[in-house]
Amino acid sequence: MTTDSRFAPRAGTLTSSPLEPLFTREYDADPALVHERFRTAYGPVAPVDLLGVPVWFVLGYEEVLHVLQNAGDRWSKCVANWRAFTEGRVPADWPPLTLLTADNTGFQDGDRHRLGRAAWDAALRPFQDPAHPQAQAMERAILRYCDDLIDVVTEGTSSGLADLCAQYGRPLPLMVANHLLGVTLEYGDDMVMDFWRLLDGPDSGGAYQRLYAALHDLVTAKRSRPGEDFISYLFAAKPDFTDDELARELFLLPAFLDFTGSLICNAVVEVITNPRLRTTLSTGAIEEAVNRVAMLKPAIANVTLRYAKADVKLGGFTIAAGDPVLLSVAAANNDPQIASALSDDTVRSTRAHLSWGAGPHRCPSRRLATQITTIAVRRLLERFSTLRLALPPDQLPWRPSPFMRALRSLPVQYEVRQDFALRPRRESRETAGAGDSASRPQGIPGDGDRPPARSALWAFLHRLRGGRRDDHQAG
Ligand code: HEM
Repeated sequence: MTTDSRFAPRAGTLTSSPLEPLFTREYDADPALVHERFRTAYGPVAPVDLLGVPVWFVLGYEEVLHVLQNAGDRWSKCVANWRAFTEGRVPADWPPLTLLTADNTGFQDGDRHRLGRAAWDAALRPFQDPAHPQAQAMERAILRYCDDLIDVVTEGTSSGLADLCAQYGRPLPLMVANHLLGVTLEYGDDMVMDFWRLLDGPDSGGAYQRLYAALHDLVTAKRSRPGEDFISYLFAAKPDFTDDELARELFLLPAFLDFTGSLICNAVVEVITNPRLRTTLSTGAIEEAVNRVAMLKPAIANVTLRYAKADVKLGGFTIAAGDPVLLSVAAANNDPQIASALSDDTVRSTRAHLSWGAGPHRCPSRRLATQITTIAVRRLLERFSTLRLALPPDQLPWRPSPFMRALRSLPVQYEVRQDFALRPRRESRETAGAGDSASRPQGIPGDGDRPPARSALWAFLHRLRGGRRDDHQAG
């Protein structure tokens, strides 16, 4: 890409340029303000300090798209192409390093990426092809999990307070992960909790070790007795995956499902605070609203680093071979170049946004993530007659993260819709496994098996509910 004539060429390398600190209080509170300041000062590319490490922050739509589309040949996702890393200038305890060195499909180039990616596409297909029985079972399961979670929130109450992040948005996609993997919550609870620790700490190193061991055991069990589940489909698509490689691939799953939790929360905030949107939702435009939220409030604000394979001009700067770029999808979606196509007055939104990525690493699971989110939002609106934020929108707490824009909690006041308040309790509440039990490895019970009395996750959710129950209990 050549230097855009709108931006005067700037001298300076990543190490010689003064760096703007990226993760400041201002960024936490309102990243869009920081984006605009950088855009004014630097144009579409700015040299920033990412938790103590220099990176180029890319804000321009054209520039982000260019890098995404040229992944592999001109821009590598493989950490071995990061000069500062290979020269030992990145501290071993730099927080994002565990993720960036994961050496799985998300962080590979060329043929390794192509083959791994083909396996992901094949293994996800049964869950995303609406004509496939697995996709139909998945849709039913998502709805069931929504109901189960809402039952825990509302049990015995007609109105109250809830944290829809901890009690709904985050556990729901992780229940879907259990369904995909073909394990029950009993088996998956520890993994669920460790995925959260891995993403947010504390003890992310310990969580990584435990997760790797758990995923490795699961992979080994599935290899000896494959079934109708995501891991078995990955084996079938790429039989030469070793158990170690597959365990590392599976790290991508919960991370992305957690992003889905963030999208759910962001979408809930949008529909309950935007009266115009809520009116439209009643006409069945939820999926379009989710797309709009994905664009305006992307759960993945910045996608993980790329490294220039040769010197290249981007925006006003020359990026040296081996330099890292952090692509801001959130800033790109709001680039005045395309943002003018959008307005708060319309529910129809452009699909040219970059929230699902673009090019070879684009999201293979956009349909499933959209479906989970759409069902989750729809079910909330069906089950609750009133949902109101318990805090002003500008006081909602965000998780500080280099990559995500995710709420830490989503406190709401609710009133239960009466026809659902009397809904009989479901027997299958604690069951979140998938597939038929005959094809499941021993020791990993599934839908057909009765799970043990109360799993750790359910106990956790019940405790949360106990802490938030208000005075309006019905009995
Ligand atoms: C709201 C939820 C989600 C969002 C916003 C999202 C977004 C993205 C984005 C932006 C990328 C590109 C990353 C990059 O270029 O570096 C990506 C890649 C990926 N996503 Fe998603 N995703 C979501 C949900 C999911 C789910 C549910 C799954 C799996 C079931 C998934 C699996 C993947 C995988 C495996 C990749 C890496 C693909 C590759 O490197 O070829 N995503 N996603």
